[in-house]
Amino acid sequence: MSHRISLTRYLVEQQREHGRIPPELRLLLEIVARACKRIAISVNKGALGEVLGSAESENVQGEVQKKLDIIANEVLIDANEWGGHLAAMASEEMENIHVVPNRYPQGEYLLMFDPLDGSSNIDVNVSIGTIFSVLKKPNDDPKAIEPVSEQDFMQAGSQQVAAGYCVYGPQTTLVLTVGDGVAMFTLDREQGSWVMTADQVSIPEDTKEFAINMSNMRHWDQPVKRYVDECLAGKDGVRGKDFNMRWIASMVADVHRILTRGGVFMYPWDKREPNKPGKLRLMYEANPMSWLIEQAGGAATNGRQRILDIKPTELHQRVSVVLGSKNEVERITAYHLEAD
Ligand code: AHG
Ligand code: MN
Ligand code: MN
Ligand code: MN
Repeated sequence: MSHRISLTRYLVEQQREHGRIPPELRLLLEIVARACKRIAISVNKGALGEVLGSAESENVQGEVQKKLDIIANEVLIDANEWGGHLAAMASEEMENIHVVPNRYPQGEYLLMFDPLDGSSNIDVNVSIGTIFSVLKKPNDDPKAIEPVSEQDFMQAGSQQVAAGYCVYGPQTTLVLTVGDGVAMFTLDREQGSWVMTADQVSIPEDTKEFAINMSNMRHWDQPVKRYVDECLAGKDGVRGKDFNMRWIASMVADVHRILTRGGVFMYPWDKREPNKPGKLRLMYEANPMSWLIEQAGGAATNGRQRILDIKPTELHQRVSVVLGSKNEVERITAYHLEAD
């Protein structure tokens, strides 16, 4: 079926016609996509594969790890170590960066991932995902003898060269940007290949759908309360329209819905952890999602500032997140700036 565009063809054309991606980045993305296929197989097996439930360990954020958090992390590391395209990796599930071992050649890319997003949904058979972000090692002079360090990862999200996620839902879908819009690829299980099912994805600027964990309402800051109160007031309030709410508790699935039909997603700072800027992690959750959203015509801020402009200082740095349909994100950001 010649009209079907595979992920491989998309990447080859991005390399050949648009000059956007060098061969090493193409290899990296093919390998990440292959790793996602392996993770999808484990996810699909569920209880039959003995992959459900918790492991007896905690990650650096103090979360109890699920078995699949660890499996997905290992799959991504194993798949990416040997290709010669990477210098190092970083993950939600590893405290420190993972430098490519000496037995393999070192490349110039840095890969960050949330191997399994939506861990609380694993055991209840609700959509989960993998999120990834790619940066270039700042000093790419092959003669440089500087070893790769955590400091090399401390780049703003605007420096990303590729970002994406894979959602393990009723369909397995890989969503990708290399800076030329957002493309979606659905896994064809019979062929074992990724087939393009959407290109140049575009988010409507306005929406009537918001996503936030409402159980935290009493902990929110005033601008977030104001925005959600106005949504809840519906037709009779200042917004003059009824809003619908969705909260899947897998960022991947919530962002996938927004890329598909619009909406706004918030995981704001709240009073439960006053000294942390938010719950979600900047480097491997907020940055890749923010770039995808911007590439689809949406916006992403921390309530005050564009997320992609934040210069990180820590690998597991957290951030407040407001992303999705442009006009809503601008409204919520304005409410924060007015309150300052
Ligand atoms: P992870 O499973 O990778 O730790 O991320 C979970 C995140 C994100 O996917 C989701 O939006 C959010 O946590 C849900 O949090 P609540 O359970 O607090 O609603
Ligand atoms: Mn987690
Ligand atoms: Mn996550
Ligand atoms: Mn995770």
